[in-house]
Amino acid sequence: MTDNAYRPDALIAENVEEYLNTHLEKTMLRFITCGSVDDGKSTLIGRLLYDSKMIFEDQLAALEDESKAGGTQGQDIDFALLVDGLAAEREQGITIDVAYRFFATEKRKFIVADTPGHEQYTRNMVTGASDSQLAVILIDARKGILTQTRRHSYLVNLLGIKNIVLAVNKMDLVDYDQATYDQIVSDYRVFADSIGIAEFTAMPISGFKGDNIASVSENTPWYNGITLMNHLETVDVGEDVRQSGPLRFPVQWVNRPNLDFRGFSGQIASGVVKPGDEIRVLPSGKTSTIKSIVTMDGDLEQASAGASVTLTFNDEIDCSRGDVICAAADPAEAADSFEATLVWMDEHEMLPGRSYVMKIGTQSVNATVQHPKYRVDVNSIEQLAAKTLQLNDIGVCSLTTDKRVVFESYNDIARGGHELGGFILIDKMTNATVAAGMLNFALRRSDNVHWQATEVDRTAHANLKNQKPMVLWFTGLSGSGKSTIANEVEKKLHLMNRHTFLLDGDNVRHGLNKDLGFTEADRVENIRRIGEVSKLMVEAGLIVLTAFISPFRGERRMVREMLPEAEFVEIYIETPLEVAEKRDVKGLYKKARAGELKNFTGIDSPYEAPTNPEIRLDTTTQTPEEAAQKVIAWLFDSSNQS
Ligand code: ADX
Repeated sequence: MTDNAYRPDALIAENVEEYLNTHLEKTMLRFITCGSVDDGKSTLIGRLLYDSKMIFEDQLAALEDESKAGGTQGQDIDFALLVDGLAAEREQGITIDVAYRFFATEKRKFIVADTPGHEQYTRNMVTGASDSQLAVILIDARKGILTQTRRHSYLVNLLGIKNIVLAVNKMDLVDYDQATYDQIVSDYRVFADSIGIAEFTAMPISGFKGDNIASVSENTPWYNGITLMNHLETVDVGEDVRQSGPLRFPVQWVNRPNLDFRGFSGQIASGVVKPGDEIRVLPSGKTSTIKSIVTMDGDLEQASAGASVTLTFNDEIDCSRGDVICAAADPAEAADSFEATLVWMDEHEMLPGRSYVMKIGTQSVNATVQHPKYRVDVNSIEQLAAKTLQLNDIGVCSLTTDKRVVFESYNDIARGGHELGGFILIDKMTNATVAAGMLNFALRRSDNVHWQATEVDRTAHANLKNQKPMVLWFTGLSGSGKSTIANEVEKKLHLMNRHTFLLDGDNVRHGLNKDLGFTEADRVENIRRIGEVSKLMVEAGLIVLTAFISPFRGERRMVREMLPEAEFVEIYIETPLEVAEKRDVKGLYKKARAGELKNFTGIDSPYEAPTNPEIRLDTTTQTPEEAAQKVIAWLFDSSNQS
């Protein structure tokens, strides 16, 4: 036990199951505290745990000793010590982005997300706040509204938290002065208005002394409101709003234990459902009626927002994971082009044009983000021009998906906005979550631009040329031999009466891509355009050869996914850097080493070698002629042709 003396989170976690069971019937409030240690955040959380009797006797004794040792006088206990045990762990290099603490009173159970206040604030706050129903914004009464107050409030509002408590803390240090308090509240009201926060509840408190936390303070006779604990216990957390909307049920999985039963499991995002209700499955639009609502404890007559259930239909219609079951008369929309607000959470900047995995509710699609329209400076709440988004940046961007997504605007909570409008982006290579986002609205592009069906189609083009069109994608370092070998391969194909076209890095960069340089973002866009051009040429029936460094796996994979299988052949020219550098045909390595050329692949810009290319060529043991021969042999080996 002593090891854990200052780790209430660990202690509580051990007892959590037993603890939550005793409080099973109570409603739950999830909230976040925003503020830094200086604002008294740790002290406040410690105080809440203490007042709800969540600190055990021996911890308390240890705390009293520790507080005395730390010079705290009299009866006062330094609650911050209790909570900051965690900070020590953080300093030891253990990453804890968000700590969750549990406590309960007679009326409610609580989960409070405690996020470290320093540098990583945006990412951590977004993580902690994403499922919070209320936010306590702490202000030091001596300091009033600070930049961080504005930043926290902006984020809380952005994430759609409707319940905001403005806790004016450390009132004891301003002699419980009403004028000081009133001034802070009125300053905050002006600011809140400016960013669209309509309502908040202000209260004068002292986490350290306990004023207006669990009991009404005699030191603030001029304050007529309730205590913080009382507010947390009684505040309406918005369940009613979600229940008032139309049914939205994102299907998590299809429950099919045997041939006689087929149910759709998930959590109701909004609305109420009853047997007999007419439903529409999106995106297909198929309709049916609800047959039953199945749970572990038997069938239900009705279920509402927040409940996890399994629904069965009266008709055998298609419905699978990622689909959304909606009220038939008021279904959600589906679209593939959106305006979204993104919070960038990765060390690696956003790359416009790169394809990321987008997880939205139970749906998973590929998404590409365009250049930000603007970025928001969270400190000044100003909109700034931006080409990309860096770690902790917030920006508004257009975003397109490869499939239609069933969605609601994030802010429309009554229609399941948080579940069907909140999403994350995942990097395909590292699997890291790179961004959290909120869909604002659909851009009508998708509805107005239709794919024109042409009668002379890709097969007709290919047949006339009597060949199987494809892309031979050469990748490798500068000077590896891509252009030379691709040129040899093209000559051989030409002699065999094949219709070909060679797209070469240096040439394309003189025309189509002359606006692009060599930053990561520009390289991504370079390859995206080459991919699109290659695809058109393949549709025209050609065998396309491309010779681009194409250093990133993500973009090579993106082009592969644009084309039918077997029409993308990745050819890795595996020349080691030393060899390419020694050749230095264009003298560029020398310049790069001298620092005269920036972002040079292999020197100060990465090359991600293919892990599974169709063909590997080694130019240290083969001549270009031999390498080209190997490609031709591969192409005409029938086992490689599907
Ligand atoms: S890619 O990375 O975007 O695929 P691409 O193949 O189009 O590059 O262009 C590479 C060619 O541009 C090189 O062969 C070289 O001649 C030239 N070049 C100029 N600057 C750079 C640089 N910083 N890095 C790599 N290549 C460069």
